[in-house]
Amino acid sequence: MDYTITALPGDGIGPEVVAEAIKVLHAVGARYGHTFTIREALIGGIAIDQTGTALPEATVAACQDCDAVLLGAVGGPKWDDPNAKVRPEQGLLGIRKALGLYANLRPVTLHPLLLDASPLRPERLVDVDLLVVRELTGGIYFGEKRREQDAQGEWASDLCVYTQAEVERIVRLAAGLARQRHGHLTLVDKANVLETSRLWRSIATRIMREEFSDLQYDWMLVDACAMHLLRRPSDFDVIVTENMFGDILTDEASMLAGSMGMLPSASLGSGKMGLYEPIHGSAPDIAGQGKANPLATILSTALLLRYSLGLEQEARAVEAAVSAVLEAGIVTGDIARGEQRAHSTVEVGSAVASRI
Ligand code: NAD
Ligand code: IPM
Ligand code: MN
Repeated sequence: MDYTITALPGDGIGPEVVAEAIKVLHAVGARYGHTFTIREALIGGIAIDQTGTALPEATVAACQDCDAVLLGAVGGPKWDDPNAKVRPEQGLLGIRKALGLYANLRPVTLHPLLLDASPLRPERLVDVDLLVVRELTGGIYFGEKRREQDAQGEWASDLCVYTQAEVERIVRLAAGLARQRHGHLTLVDKANVLETSRLWRSIATRIMREEFSDLQYDWMLVDACAMHLLRRPSDFDVIVTENMFGDILTDEASMLAGSMGMLPSASLGSGKMGLYEPIHGSAPDIAGQGKANPLATILSTALLLRYSLGLEQEARAVEAAVSAVLEAGIVTGDIARGEQRAHSTVEVGSAVASRI
């Protein structure tokens, strides 16, 4: 089959890790008889520099006319002026919204060989296998923003809004995934303080009682969740949570897996089309040095093959090749331990591609 993939490399290490993921996709194509046509488009800081906007219309059009989107990362110090009118991150938020990708799946799995790459004690990490389902197109990220000046000085506000329909669709999706996994859903909120969280909790509790009574369901306040993720991470199966809490908790959860460079994600909407990206950012501190771990992006292509293209065998081949590369000790510096040499981004990507 022929598939068209829109690649949005973005900024910093984005182009470095996306190049390796594309290398792996072509290896999958060669092995299984598919053709992946890659169309590159601009997003983020590079798009601002070249077009004046973080999300050019041509990029939206390319993403609407393809089978799936593969994204690197956006942002960096060059565009970080807090008074700037255009920001790279607007491109990322804009494309998620434009494509209706309301569900961001962030699986956290550990390769047994990486148990000692995490700062946590290995015995805490045995059996960790969790999935964070992050709401992606609502909440405080998308509510009205204001920055004003009055007689007392400056003030600013970010409005957090959730509608019943937004909460219902993400809870149903997360519960459906829990049913296919270990049958346990945890709602994470701040219902002791936030009205939006109280709406989430009442809707989720009703849906779980009426439609998913076969599942184990509980809720947890987000501050406690941040602690429990370190204390007893293997107790979680599926976590469903709002946009900002999901963002923060998954950076924390990445350290269970040893590095930000290990966690992939899939952003899905109502159709097959999806956007796939590592959870990490543009890592300005290591950009351009060949040090970035490409595995999060490569594992994101496995999710792309699985969810948008329905190619389960190919997805597993990518995941197996990643495991084989870890077993061979071909790893970047962020997860290298003991005597292991820190390999380059390109070396790791090539090693995965050659094992497909
Ligand atoms: P970051 O995720 O870019 O980096 C955090 C730390 O993790 C850094 O020390 C970095 O070197 C390390 N790291 C990240 N990815 C790695 C990889 N693949 N291999 C090895 N180490 C890796 O977060 P930050 O520094 O807070 O943000 C930098 C910029 O990225 C900001 O402009 C931010 O807005 C943007 N950002 C973008 C995305 C995205 O595009 N999806 C996500 C997060 C942050
Ligand atoms: C992520 C990032 C983005 C987010 C930023 C860059 C807008 O942190 O994808 O995790 O907060 O969603
Ligand atoms: Mn983030």
